Amino acid sequence: MRVVTTIAELKALLDTYRKEGKMIALVPTMGALHAGHASLVKRSVAENGVTVVSVFVNPTQFNDKNDLKNYPRTLDADCRLLEEVGADVVFAPAVDEMYPEEDTRSFSFAPLDTVMEGACRPGHFNGVAQIVSKLFYAVEPDRAYFGEKDFQQLAIIREMVRQLALPVEIVGCPIVRENDGLAMSSRNTLLSAEERERALTISRTLFESLEHAKSNDLASTKAFVENVINSTEGLCLEYYQIVDGNTLQEIAEWGDSEYVVGCIALFCGKIRLIDNIVYKK
Ligand code: PAJ
Repeated sequence: MRVVTTIAELKALLDTYRKEGKMIALVPTMGALHAGHASLVKRSVAENGVTVVSVFVNPTQFNDKNDLKNYPRTLDADCRLLEEVGADVVFAPAVDEMYPEEDTRSFSFAPLDTVMEGACRPGHFNGVAQIVSKLFYAVEPDRAYFGEKDFQQLAIIREMVRQLALPVEIVGCPIVRENDGLAMSSRNTLLSAEERERALTISRTLFESLEHAKSNDLASTKAFVENVINSTEGLCLEYYQIVDGNTLQEIAEWGDSEYVVGCIALFCGKIRLIDNIVYKK
C-alpha cells in the first residue's frame, strides 16, 4: 500500500495503474476509520483494480469550529486498517494541498440541500461538494463509494456528479451498525460511557418505528419517534423527517412515495449523531 500526500504524486502513481488498464476507485473519508468505512473499502477492493482511500478532515464542511478541532485524527491506525482490507493507495493531503487558496465555488443542489442537514448545518454540503469534486479531479476515479449512513450526502453527491457531468459511477453502500444497533460513526468515540448507552435509543427507536408503521399512519409514526427521543434524558432531537428517498422532501402519507426513508439528527450530550431507516423501497 502506498501513502501519498500530494496531488502530483497521486496523479503520477495513478497514471501507471491507468496505463495497465486497471479500474480505479475512490473511497473518500475523513479518517478515524471503523468497520463502516472498511465495508466501503472492501467492496471497492472486490470490484476494482485499484482502490484509493482519501483521509482528509475537510475544514470547509464544518460549520462548527469546535467540531473541527475535536474531530478524531488517527492516521497511523487508519493506515493499518486500510492495509488489512487491501487498499492500494492512501491519499492523506495537508489542508494547503487541497486548498492552496480559498475555494469560493458555490454549489446549489436545491431542493436536496435545503432540508435536514442542509438546513441545520449551513454551508456543510457546499464544503462536501468542494472537497469531493477536488478529489474527483485529482483521482479521476471510474467509481466512488459512499455510505447510506449519510443518506442526504449520497443523494447530493449523485446530483453533483450529474450537474458537473463527471464520468464517475457513484456506489451507495448499506449502513454498518455496532452489535447493539448503533450506527458506526467516527464521532461515537467521543461519547462517554453514559452517552454511549443513551445513544442506543436512536437505532432501537428507529427499528421499533418499523413495527409501528405497519399499523399506523405516517404522522403517528413520526410522532412516535419524536416522543421517544424527546422523553429520553440526554438526547436532544434536531429533526426526524420521513422523506421521499430520491427527492428528500417530506411526505404526508405512506402512499406518497415508493421509496420512504426516515432521517434523524440529534445531540447526545454535545455530540451530534445522525441515522436513518428505510420504511419502503
Ligand atoms: P466520513 O464521515 O469519514 O465518511 C466516509 C464515508 O464512510 C461516507 O461515505 C460515509 O457515509 C461512510 N460511512 C460512515 N459511517 C458508516 C457506516 N456506519 N456504515 C456505512 N458507511 C459509513 O462522509 C464523510 O466522511 C465526508 O463528508 C467526505 C465524503 C469524506 C467528504 O469530506
